[in-house]
Amino acid sequence: MGDKTSNTMWGGRFADGPDAIMEAINASISFDRRLARHDIEGSRVHAAMLARQGIIEDSDAAAIREGLLTILSEIEGGTFRFSAALEDIHMNVEARLKELIGDPAGRLHTGRSRNDQVALDVRMWVRDQADAAITGLTALIDALLAQAEAGADWVMPGFTHMQVAQPVTWGHHMMAYVEMFARDRSRFTDARARMNECPLGAAALAGTGFPIDRDMTAAALGFDRPTANSLDSVADRDFALEFLASAAICATHLSRFAEELVIWSSAQFRFVTLSDRFSTGSSIMPQKKNPDAAELVRAKVGRITGATVAVLTVMKGLPLTYSKDMQEDKEQVFDAADALMLALAAMEGMVRDMTANRDGLRTAAACGFSTATDLADWLVRELGLPFRDAHHVTGALVKMAEDRGCDLSALGLADMQTVHGGITGDVYDVLTVEASVASRRSFGGTAPENVRAAITRWRTREMAADV
Ligand code: ARG
Repeated sequence: MGDKTSNTMWGGRFADGPDAIMEAINASISFDRRLARHDIEGSRVHAAMLARQGIIEDSDAAAIREGLLTILSEIEGGTFRFSAALEDIHMNVEARLKELIGDPAGRLHTGRSRNDQVALDVRMWVRDQADAAITGLTALIDALLAQAEAGADWVMPGFTHMQVAQPVTWGHHMMAYVEMFARDRSRFTDARARMNECPLGAAALAGTGFPIDRDMTAAALGFDRPTANSLDSVADRDFALEFLASAAICATHLSRFAEELVIWSSAQFRFVTLSDRFSTGSSIMPQKKNPDAAELVRAKVGRITGATVAVLTVMKGLPLTYSKDMQEDKEQVFDAADALMLALAAMEGMVRDMTANRDGLRTAAACGFSTATDLADWLVRELGLPFRDAHHVTGALVKMAEDRGCDLSALGLADMQTVHGGITGDVYDVLTVEASVASRRSFGGTAPENVRAAITRWRTREMAADV
């Protein structure tokens, strides 16, 4: 051992301890303590494997196991004393193990390195978060299905360019988000399947000469198999990047929906009322009910996408294998995961609680000549006009209605006939918003019967776990 101020784990060749700034830039314990449970789990399995392979004594493995369990309860009970001088969670745990059980602690690190250890810990942590994202998305999808079912045939304006385009159904709009969040869920499922290989046993970078059993540790830690290349095992953070990329896309979807909720809950729109449970008041304006949860969900995408770009940038250009740069992955992953889980839960709560204003949606749907396309389609179907001519005739009728400040359905038949003599009274049947949505039965279209079929499809798929 070197000077007593040097590190007890690697101080053999060091005469001096680190500068305070060195310690500050190097230590990760302030954040990687969140890996404690996974770190201890990995060590427990590693020690058991070493004993079974005859690499360490059974009695040493038993002492290590007992010591690790004690450490876990100390950490969970809040009595564990973390030390920045011991850099990270791995060395904090090992140093405490030494205090608790003495010499056998020194045998735990046989055939292992902090490089494969940290790769394992972060991978297990991210795997749990992928599972949590899948669970959170499933709950959100469930809330959306309930909204879609309640309002499968409620008519609302559909927008393009934020201008009223054509009537759609509330259920169809909710189901659009079901599609988006279900794709997010399948991205997490895919990423989880790809990340489920165990890097433990890659050791520092080259593998080890000890007769370890990587299949055993992989299986015991819930992995499908061990990773195949030791260099890649310690250098790879794709699992974190895939999780972050999936999270960023999901957060982008959440922000779009949150934006709609902010707009829809405004006095000008009144499409929905958010519950008191997911709104806040103003300290000065007594009438205010603010959609803060929706605004914060809208904003969380910033840090999640930021974390994705940050870790991509950290990994860019790193030579194989491990470099300390990779320690910078954790805070980004932790922060993004926390933000995503909270945003998913807040969105689920808002969706479960919100009340759609059926009448307000209907009134808004009828504004802005939203059935003009239906009129043009009628001219094509009933009078045999080419669509381009029908478009032109309809445009003239819209202009007439606009000049008179009335809706298309309020134009008299004689007036319509001045634009095209062939128009008959039947045309009024297609000018209602209900007729408009009911007619759009093409696969994926907005008709209420399509919405109900889509809900059934999703419920059945979910039951079959075909996500
Ligand atoms: N705290 C380190 C990290 O998060 C653990 C691995 C350290 N490995 C090393 N060779 N210094 O990346």
